Amino acid sequence: MSELVHYEVRDRVAVLTIDNPPVNALGPGVWEAIDEAVARASADGAADAIVLVGAGSTFIAGADINVFKLLKTPQDSMDRSAGTHALLVRWEDAPKPLVAAIHGNALGGGLEVAMSCHYRVAAKDAKVGQPEVNLGIIPGAAGTQRLPRLAGAATAIAMCTDGKPVAAAKAKAAGIVDEVVDGDLLTGAIAFAKARAAAGERRQTREIGFDADAKAAGLAACEKARASLRPEPRAPHAAIDAIQAALTLPFDQGSVRERELFAERVVSTESKALRHLFFAEREAARVADVKKDTPTVEIKRAAVVGAGTMGGGIAMSYANAGIPVLLKEVDDAALQRGLATIRKNYEGSVAKGRLTPEAYERTMALITPTTSYDGFDAVDIVVEAVFENMDLKQRTFADLGRVTRPDCVLASNTSTLDIDVFAQASGRPAQVVGHHFFSPANVMKLLEIVRGKETSASVVASSVKLGKKLAKVPVVVGNCFGFVANRMLAYYMREAYLLLEEGAPVEQVDRVLMDFGLPVGPFGMQDIAGIDVGARIRQYLASVGQTRAEGPQSEVPDRLFEMGRYGQKTGAGWYRYEPGSRERIPDPLVEQLAAEAAAKRGIARRKVGDDEILARIATALANEGARVLEDGFAQRASDIDVIYCYGFGFPRHRGGPMFYADTVGLPTVLARVREYRARFGDYWKPAPLLERMVAEGRRLYQD
Ligand code: 3HC
Ligand code: NAI
Repeated sequence: MSELVHYEVRDRVAVLTIDNPPVNALGPGVWEAIDEAVARASADGAADAIVLVGAGSTFIAGADINVFKLLKTPQDSMDRSAGTHALLVRWEDAPKPLVAAIHGNALGGGLEVAMSCHYRVAAKDAKVGQPEVNLGIIPGAAGTQRLPRLAGAATAIAMCTDGKPVAAAKAKAAGIVDEVVDGDLLTGAIAFAKARAAAGERRQTREIGFDADAKAAGLAACEKARASLRPEPRAPHAAIDAIQAALTLPFDQGSVRERELFAERVVSTESKALRHLFFAEREAARVADVKKDTPTVEIKRAAVVGAGTMGGGIAMSYANAGIPVLLKEVDDAALQRGLATIRKNYEGSVAKGRLTPEAYERTMALITPTTSYDGFDAVDIVVEAVFENMDLKQRTFADLGRVTRPDCVLASNTSTLDIDVFAQASGRPAQVVGHHFFSPANVMKLLEIVRGKETSASVVASSVKLGKKLAKVPVVVGNCFGFVANRMLAYYMREAYLLLEEGAPVEQVDRVLMDFGLPVGPFGMQDIAGIDVGARIRQYLASVGQTRAEGPQSEVPDRLFEMGRYGQKTGAGWYRYEPGSRERIPDPLVEQLAAEAAAKRGIARRKVGDDEILARIATALANEGARVLEDGFAQRASDIDVIYCYGFGFPRHRGGPMFYADTVGLPTVLARVREYRARFGDYWKPAPLLERMVAEGRRLYQD
């Protein structure tokens, strides 16, 4: 018998245990091994029923995602999936009750395998889902055909288009799971299987039909769901098409339609982009010279200094992860302000039903307010989030060096300052690291871990581990101005400002970027974040003779700042806002400021095409990204993609700015940089790495 599926008979039930660590993905050989085991159990006179269970921490996390890159054409996919579909039908035809015992996750192909069993029994904390859309594909092993039969079209549409897993209790209510087991799962599943065998029951999902009402409701749900989707990404549309086929065609024909739709999606750029990000996110946590066995500090207690916008959100992130946190402020008034904001945030979650009142109390109790350093000698980490001021940060780090234990991690949430300077002030530079959270820190998932000159490997490794515990996506970056995210953003914004001066209204620039897939364009985003934030950074840089991004500095954002137009919080910024509304209303004043700025710089304003807007902004990002990479501030191109997708909402289905550059073609990107240099000036310098890669005919990513 295969190593991938273990076989034993317990109490006249054949127990088939899939054992393919770490997540029992349906990789090469696993399908075949299950098939062999089901056949053996079917013929085994010592077994009256069969239970399929996963070894380790989970049932099956889905098909092996690595395999999809082997499918070069839709036909490759069609050929392969025919066999898979046939296997599932064969298992469904097993002569004895076949029960899936689900713990951990049954995702994608995992749920599809479970649905081809006659029954599903789940542990209380198990989850089931069809997350394929997150990879730019649709369920490809008849999930779109079996799920609507079990749970109805509306539930199937929701699960296959948003990709979110469903908890066991909800899955039972929906008809996906037959029983939720409170105690030992395998014991419960064996008992369940024996009872079905005794009653002579076997239920084949594929035999479940739709009556006329269910069919009509299902078709209406398909239409409604289609109307709510953006044109791209395409995978959710394809999932609905496949579910519609389940409603209108016999099972076999519906399955063929699903295979065709899957085949089209799996070779798409959208799917390649999303699969790239799946692995990129996990790769980002690895640091070349920090070995896997590097000792890490377990963070059991934390402290945050500063309870402002960021400090409050950071304290919430710790509390949400169950880590007790001291929250320090300068005085009681500031502390109460910070706590009031935290409470308001949690109360909002309670009101929306996302948090129970008990969980709110429990979580809030983990945050201990203070105005002194008492208790700092007991914490494993301190995150500094005081004002962005070098003197203040240096003083704070000197204090932290005195009041904490030598092994305490000292993290700073600075967005622009040189962490090596306050690392020295602490007297313990090896313990100092940047933990750059994004606003709102309790919501945004990106965490840039900034490695200083002397940051120890153990502090880096501990930070990565902690980042995951805080439910963040940690990416290790180098210590340059703006680190990776804000350094790239400076070029993104520079181009947006210059396009505005040249004649593209803010609403056109924003619309183009939103059509591309961003949730909000550059100007709308700045109205949310605050025009004052960038203006103050520019003021500071000007005082030390620097600029954020090479090239002409538009005066328009600074003029808005001078007028007190900071964005949504002041009712006006790049747009106007009616009281209490976030609707962006174009303001002729901004056009006037842009025209004045253009006149001063001798620019003849013109009509700028949508294509040029996208090309200029995407090229600025890719060119600067190549420099960040070559300078070693990002370890790999894919880290930049992860950062920009999680930090600024770059559309995931485009794979991130570097992946997108590869899609456009590096020779085209370079040709654009050269063209812009000729048109606009020498500040458009091709990144040497980009030039070299084009000269050598290389791409950033291989297919
Ligand atoms: N295929 C290949 N590798 C996978 C995988 C999969 N389906 N799922 C997880 N892995 C790998 C990860 O890359 C990671 O590898 P690494 O240690 O080398 O980085 C390792 O397994 C552990 O994964 P995580 O770090 O993500 O572990 P977590 O415990 O945080 O999360 C999980 C577990 C929730 C199962 C998460 O891994 C996950 O969401 N996996 C993907 C689930 C998915 O998308 N399934 C659908 C696949 S497509 C499909 O099934 C098509 C079908 O319809 C035919
Ligand atoms: P903020 O002004 O909202 O809060 C700073 C808080 O620090 C204030 O409440 C202040 O009273 C407190 N403080 C000052 N000195 C202190 C001391 N000695 N001890 C305890 N508390 C003290 O500022 P914000 O926006 O929270 O920024 C904090 C840090 O986070 C800055 O370094 C900033 O650059 C960085 N950051 C800000 C982001 C944002 O979007 N606001 C995003 C990412 C990083």
